[in-house]
Amino acid sequence: MSASAQRSEKRTGLVAYNSVAELVDKLRPEMPVYALFPDAFANIAKTFIDGFPGETMYAIKANPAIPVLDCVYDAGIRHFDVASISEVKLVHERFPKAKLSFMAPVRIRGTAGEAFHRHGVRDFALDSDEELTSILRDTGAAADRAIAKQLTLYVRLQVPADGALLELSSKFGVSVSGASALVKAIEAAGAKPALTFHVGSQCLFPRSYTTALKRCAEVLAQSGVALAALDVGGGFPGYYLNVTVPPLTEFFTAIAVGVRALNLPKDCAIYCEPGRALVADGLSVVTQVSLRRDHTLFINDGIYGSLNEYALKDWPVRYPLRVFTPSNAGGIEEKTGRLSSFKAFGPTCDTLDVLHYMIDLPDTVAAGDWIEFQMLGAYSCSLRTQFNGFYPDTFVEIPANSAPLSAPN
Ligand SMILES: Cc1ncc(COP(=O)(O)O)c(C=O)c1O
Repeated sequence: MSASAQRSEKRTGLVAYNSVAELVDKLRPEMPVYALFPDAFANIAKTFIDGFPGETMYAIKANPAIPVLDCVYDAGIRHFDVASISEVKLVHERFPKAKLSFMAPVRIRGTAGEAFHRHGVRDFALDSDEELTSILRDTGAAADRAIAKQLTLYVRLQVPADGALLELSSKFGVSVSGASALVKAIEAAGAKPALTFHVGSQCLFPRSYTTALKRCAEVLAQSGVALAALDVGGGFPGYYLNVTVPPLTEFFTAIAVGVRALNLPKDCAIYCEPGRALVADGLSVVTQVSLRRDHTLFINDGIYGSLNEYALKDWPVRYPLRVFTPSNAGGIEEKTGRLSSFKAFGPTCDTLDVLHYMIDLPDTVAAGDWIEFQMLGAYSCSLRTQFNGFYPDTFVEIPANSAPLSAPN
């Protein structure tokens, strides 16, 4: 094993390989394997830490697998956006010093109190009077101004969803007037008022943040409230195939300009909470072909496992693919050559377990070959199920500088 592989193995405790080809050669895996690229996590986290005009948290819903959390933490992220009590516990137990923000605007009953009293959570999102009442009641803030003062309560503002591939505005968020009323109610309750929004996932245009920040300006003008914090949400894109997105620096600049125009108090904290962008680059899923029938493949992972984004409607994103096969010399080699389009079924007995988009692979791909789906760090592990007894859960790591692709910055 090379020196860099040894160094890397120490960092996460995972078995390390020098390349995906080497992992395939050594393991000849018959079940899917997640290959992590710690340096890809480090690069993208650095881009956010150095470039975002505020503090970056990680929205762990994008990938809460422990090895991924470790990579994100090792990369310097110390603040996490959580949306359920099990996410709160997971991060609090793993990283006791990390800061947690509970940013689901509608929580399971009782969980705000548990997060506050048992896990030190002080930041909560909301978009209704009812949720404000239950946060104040469950934390004890309704009866005690000293507790209220500890809370930062983020009103989730509804913003246009026209720049993102997956909209997140039809479920959560209030209008400008609703947000104005809520920030005033938060201030009156003695808690710190804050605003948040989400432009939608895989946002393609920096101007979406500009528009959302202008909407924040309307809330400030209408309410006259001085914000303690502003969280511009997630939505930052992955640099996949088949979608054109400007570099992250353009998103950061748009946000910096938009925030400056708000004339916020000097001590107002600025946050973002990316999920996808922080983890997309850092993980490949190595699958195996079980059977080839003409131009149809049966593979050992599918939409009930790590490949569920292949089931998204109108999802133009394509993930880079590589095929590995045993070589005549006894090792493993990458298969190249003319590409053909293949339909790919997942391993379960459900006919719906089929990738909704054809995948382009070397024409000679055969049963027993391995297909590496690259850039699948986001919403792969988090959405896998145990349907039919399949649950990919093997992680290894690939050390320095061998990430297949990485985001421009
Ligand atoms: C409140 C909140 N924050 C952050 C995220 C992460 O979004 P993305 O992965 O697009 O960055 C989501 C995604 O659903 C979310 O709902």
